Amino acid sequence: MSEHAHAVSMSERADELEEEKMHEMERIITRSTIAHLMDGNVKMDTSPEMRAKHPGQFFLMGDDPRLPPMPEKPTLVDYFRHRFASTAHLLQSATHALKGGHPEKVVLACLLHDIAIVSFIRCDHGYWGAQMIEPYVDEEVAWAVKTHQALRFFPDETVGYGYPDLYKELFGPDYRPEPYIVEEYKRARAHKWYMTSRLICMNDIYSFDPNAKVNLDDFVDIIGRNFRQPKEGLGLDNSPSAHMWRTILWPTRFL
Ligand SMILES: [Fe+2]
Ligand SMILES: [Fe+2]
Repeated sequence: MSEHAHAVSMSERADELEEEKMHEMERIITRSTIAHLMDGNVKMDTSPEMRAKHPGQFFLMGDDPRLPPMPEKPTLVDYFRHRFASTAHLLQSATHALKGGHPEKVVLACLLHDIAIVSFIRCDHGYWGAQMIEPYVDEEVAWAVKTHQALRFFPDETVGYGYPDLYKELFGPDYRPEPYIVEEYKRARAHKWYMTSRLICMNDIYSFDPNAKVNLDDFVDIIGRNFRQPKEGLGLDNSPSAHMWRTILWPTRFL
């Protein structure tokens, strides 16, 4: 065998080994039932079916190799950078609140008000978002995030907030909020923290300006002062909502 041919076969062998290693590392990635429901299918990925399709492979029980890697002890900022699909709306709303001279509590509420939508789930995003942050923020912030979902449908002329024009475009002129939203609105209207939630709606930027300069760095200090980052990493602590963060961290774990 010539030296050249030898070198080629060595590199071919290295490629083969690399491929074998890759194959060994490949894990079966499952989709949760909610993902199938969202596709309009009432079905689930079952282990016998999945194993038959992927013989000799194990199920994924950790990081999904298709997603951006996260640090060992992730912070809220890491989720903003690597798991939130879009942050422009949140940053714009928070920037608006900051420029309006509102307290940090309100700025943080604006920054976090739609995190459920950008990272997790749309339906009832206010409730999900509030639960996600509840163990880590002032009670008032979580309450305001929860109730903004209802308040945004109801005008308050005393502060110059009207029903958003965008909602007429998005949901049609005849859309009316469901009774549970109407009831939530009534409770929120009478609550001592009503205005905090209303301020989220007032700073909620309904039309995104693509030229606006917004930067997460502007909020790192406010997050540091107002969001209790767990030392174990967000999701790896034992707070009542840590599992929600873990699900965003590892959305395709088999269990
Ligand atoms: Fe919202
Ligand atoms: Fe919003």
